Amino acid sequence: MDDLNGRVAFVTGGASGIGFALAEAFAQEGAKVAIADVEVEALKKAEGALLSKGVEAIGVHCDVSDHRSMVAAADRALGAFGKIHVLCNNAGVSPVGAIDETTPEDWKWCLGVNLMGVVHGIQAIVPKIKQHGEGGHVVNTSSIAGLMALPTLGIYTATKYAVVGISETLRGELAPANIGVSVLCPSFVKTRLHEGHRNRPPELGKSPDEPNAFISAMLASAPEPAEIAKRVVRGIKRGDFYILPHADTKAGFEARANEILAAFDLD
Ligand SMILES: NC(=O)c1ccc[n+]([C@@H]2O[C@H](COP(=O)([O-])OP(=O)(O)OC[C@H]3O[C@@H](n4cnc5c(N)ncnc54)[C@H](O)[C@@H]3O)[C@@H](O)[C@H]2O)c1
Repeated sequence: MDDLNGRVAFVTGGASGIGFALAEAFAQEGAKVAIADVEVEALKKAEGALLSKGVEAIGVHCDVSDHRSMVAAADRALGAFGKIHVLCNNAGVSPVGAIDETTPEDWKWCLGVNLMGVVHGIQAIVPKIKQHGEGGHVVNTSSIAGLMALPTLGIYTATKYAVVGISETLRGELAPANIGVSVLCPSFVKTRLHEGHRNRPPELGKSPDEPNAFISAMLASAPEPAEIAKRVVRGIKRGDFYILPHADTKAGFEARANEILAAFDLD
């Protein structure tokens, strides 16, 4: 998809951080944007900020972990704009803790948002993109933790590896429909990800170690979300599958890939 002008983008987790930056970047390209988010106040504020810049935008309340909520949000966006061309499955949370110390509720929350949220987005919106036949693009936000495992981020890592796998599968499935796919795998970005527990459903209890001091410090000195959004826009236009905005993470991935490659040759 080499031109976003006049197209419609639907961004989950669009009220803040990388998602809001994506919405702004798409709007700068002339796209209409629907931002879907569970955080009501942030969503209102983000929608207001886009509208005040003259962007054709709508904020839709949505819990991505709930299939019905995702379908309802997609319907609202379609009601407002008629079509969706670009789907960004971006909403995510990041509970911290050694795997043996995590609770079933930690897994339920993080798998619901980071993994099933992506599945629900694909189920609710990809058929609508296929239907209009104008082509489109799906961007799934994974993480560098989708390409290499990081201690204390076991649940997060499990979901982000899954998002890479889903994206690699989706790429082949959607090519005949002229729908491109990208998987975004950033390292640290300056957002409120370390405060993700603000959106944890109360019935799933408390997150034990949030905000995590190490992650807070890494996020504070990280690149701005707008830089990542620029890379995504370029990736959509160029048809990049892997969008890897942090070159400094290459060596870590290389070490993992080399270990796997070498294991094929062991007797
Ligand atoms: N910030 C980083 O360092 C970093 C690095 C790699 C990947 N990521 C990924 O980027 C994505 C965006 O995160 P961010 O860093 O912008 O954090 P953020 O907390 O600023 O934004 C996440 C957004 O998702 C929304 N959200 C949370 N639960 C939701 C739910 N159930 N339904 C709908 N929306 C929900 C939040 O309200 C928020 O607006 C996530 O998938 C995250 O895993 C972030």
